[in-house]
Amino acid sequence: EARLPPGYTIRPLQASDYHRGVLQTLAVLTTVGDISESDFIKRFQYWQDRNDTYYNVVIVNDKDRVVAIGSVVIERKLIHHCASAGHIEDIAVASSEQGKKLGLHLINTLTAIAEQVGAYKVILDCSDKNVPFYEKCGYTHSGNEMVLKF
Ligand code: ACO
Repeated sequence: EARLPPGYTIRPLQASDYHRGVLQTLAVLTTVGDISESDFIKRFQYWQDRNDTYYNVVIVNDKDRVVAIGSVVIERKLIHHCASAGHIEDIAVASSEQGKKLGLHLINTLTAIAEQVGAYKVILDCSDKNVPFYEKCGYTHSGNEMVLKF
């Protein structure tokens, strides 16, 4: 199992990460919007109250800045005798920190969480551009993403 480069640590998201650049890091993925600290804390608290379902993980650098973030959501099903499935969502590595295997480490960690909590599979949606990255993480192509946007 690959180790993080020296100076980096991986840990669960904290409420104080609002002040460590977590939103700026997420902005490499998509529009984040103008999220106030109280908006952030409210959403963080929602996840904390459901901490067997929402797992948010960050990587912090030696300057105590959040340089990568990702999540796995555990879905409880009826099929396969009340099985659980993991959904990896919202992966972002800060532009200046890409190519250092932080993304790989993050996906390995989120995948291990899903396995540890008993999920029988982990799935995610990504663009064609990111397919080689997820293949390096051990994922294979399966089906198509469908969407209906409001
Ligand atoms: N094409 C080909 N190979 C790639 C690519 C790519 N686009 N991106 C990474 N890889 C390879 C790397 O070369 C490396 O291969 P190696 O082990 O042979 O050297 C391996 O994948 C691991 O790469 P990392 O260094 O861990 O990748 P990084 O830390 O840069 O993270 C990520 C990749 C998350 C895609 C990052 O570039 C990023 O944040 N991009 C912008 C946001 C984004 O697209 N997020 C994912 C959306 S999908 C989702 O959220 C479910």
